[in-house]
Amino acid sequence: MEKTFLMIKPEAVQAGNQGLIIDLLLRNGFAISAMKQFSFTGERAGRFYAMHKDKPFFKDLISYITSGDVIGIALEKEDGIRLLRVLVGATNPADADPGTVRYMYGTDLQRNAVHASDSPESAEKELAIVFGED
Ligand code: CMP
Repeated sequence: MEKTFLMIKPEAVQAGNQGLIIDLLLRNGFAISAMKQFSFTGERAGRFYAMHKDKPFFKDLISYITSGDVIGIALEKEDGIRLLRVLVGATNPADADPGTVRYMYGTDLQRNAVHASDSPESAEKELAIVFGED
């Protein structure tokens, strides 16, 4: 079983879409091993998104992701990292295929409903930041 991580972002939580997104994960065969709703401090968000720290959108990304509650979900499935990214769809909802999470629940490039780990190393790091510190 491969471990991966999904985070439901503030606009999707505020819109009440968390139930539909979690339902989609379960119906696609992902097992949930941990889940929590919380809000990021700027410091923790900076570490979570450290790979983007030199990007022009980093400041906006941190300000957005700390703007409201998020829901972190630890998931397990065979080939789960790749399959979760297929289910989530393209980063920009405008480019996402019909049926994907971002097509259905994303608004724009920043408010794109969810984040999904892109590698085993990212999954391990993101799971540790969200579930391993308190
Ligand atoms: P996520 O998968 O959470 O990883 C980093 C996030 O940065 C990404 O989703 C987008 O929501 C956000 N972002 C904002 N601007 C850009 C951009 N120009 N390119 C890529 N990601 C961006």
